[in-house]
Amino acid sequence: MTVTETRHVAAAPQVQPAPDGSVPVRRQLPRLSEVRELLQFRAPVLDPVKRRLENALTIEDLRRIGRRTTPRAVFDYVDGAADAEITASRNVHAFRETEFIPENLNSVVDPDLSTELLGERIDFPLVFAPTGYTRMMHHQGEGAVARVAQRNNLPYTLSTVGTDTIEGIWEAAPEGQNWFQLYLTNNHRLNNQLVDRALEAGSRTVVLTIDTAVGGRRLKDVRNGLTIPPSLTLKTFFDMSRFPYWWVNKLTTAPIEFASVRDFPGTSADVAALLFDPGLDYEDLAWLRKKWPHKLLVKGIQNPADAGRVMDLGADGVVVSNHGGRQLDRAPASLDMLPAVRDAVGPDTTVLLDSGVRHGQDIIAAVALGADAVMVGRAYLYGLMAGGEAGVERAVEILRSEYRRGLQLLGLDGTAKIAERHVNPHTPAPKR
Ligand SMILES: Cc1cc2nc3c(=O)[nH]c(=O)nc-3n(C[C@H](O)[C@H](O)[C@H](O)COP(=O)(O)O)c2cc1C
Repeated sequence: MTVTETRHVAAAPQVQPAPDGSVPVRRQLPRLSEVRELLQFRAPVLDPVKRRLENALTIEDLRRIGRRTTPRAVFDYVDGAADAEITASRNVHAFRETEFIPENLNSVVDPDLSTELLGERIDFPLVFAPTGYTRMMHHQGEGAVARVAQRNNLPYTLSTVGTDTIEGIWEAAPEGQNWFQLYLTNNHRLNNQLVDRALEAGSRTVVLTIDTAVGGRRLKDVRNGLTIPPSLTLKTFFDMSRFPYWWVNKLTTAPIEFASVRDFPGTSADVAALLFDPGLDYEDLAWLRKKWPHKLLVKGIQNPADAGRVMDLGADGVVVSNHGGRQLDRAPASLDMLPAVRDAVGPDTTVLLDSGVRHGQDIIAAVALGADAVMVGRAYLYGLMAGGEAGVERAVEILRSEYRRGLQLLGLDGTAKIAERHVNPHTPAPKR
């Protein structure tokens, strides 16, 4: 049986076309409720630092704020790189040119961002790289960065040329994973002291940096007079005087110095001369391997053959890094060297990568091409300059949310699902 249903729909009044054939728009009386929906004004944020940070949506935004709020010479020290800064721009370019290939129709409701690194679970594959002179960027310095790392369950690495000591870091972040970065100097007593202090303070990972046989020539620092010892130009000095907030904080907090070597006799120039040791070689690494009983990473690997060799000497992992382009200019982008280094050390070795990470999706690219995690330097320093501890927290928030969204849009429900097939690197892998 077929039932035919007839519905009576009230006919809308016919709108008559105008003489030129166009149909006039039908209008209604304005409704206040609709306007209210459009005008959801946010309450004004009175604290200027908070306001700036809330408006920062990317690491590049934090960089722009840092540039405005910090003396130019300090900003240049962070942002600049060696010689013509070719490697520094290659690093960033390599990430930007990477293509992602998604696998859709996978449920990605709540991706698990965490991963295991050197036997510890961390919230996502990110480690704070060691950076010298951090209290010059902002008076809260290394302690603030270590606290952010602790809150976010991420490792923090204190530099040998930090402006705080390893003991100070453990005080600031007693529950943190506080690593220590070592420059082996040409003074054996000092080397012994540094390693013993890291051990006694509680650190369980030492990162030996090997790409500083001599200091890279950062032309901006030379031109600004930000050298060791400093020889500020008048221009630099006048520019600095435009930042009274920075000066007051600098002059009313502990002096900026190489805190870990403050008891060592000599001027800052003498100490700096010790720190860059052109005589560093494999015997030094063998010595350190014997002395340090816990995890040992070697940072500054740019070459698969070097990676194999340091692993043969007993390292627990490597950091593929060109020091953010601050040492050997014209070196290839770290990301481009990563697949060959991973091939050389095999699937079970810990491999970190740094240099050029500015976006959460860069972390995905690095993991896909063979890294267990990335280190970031400038990304968090821009945050520190833009707003101290809160700025570093903002940098982590930005990177984490970009990382999470990137995973979801790739159709991956966790860090463990990232694979090589999800990216096309921007250049073919370099020769072995
Ligand atoms: C201002 C600054 C200071 C740095 N100081 C050190 C250091 O003392 N020891 C070290 O091993 N690496 C140092 N680095 C290099 C970083 O650990 C890291 O390799 C680099 O910043 C990664 O590149 P990115 O800044 O593009 O993330 C420094 C980097 C910057 C930007």
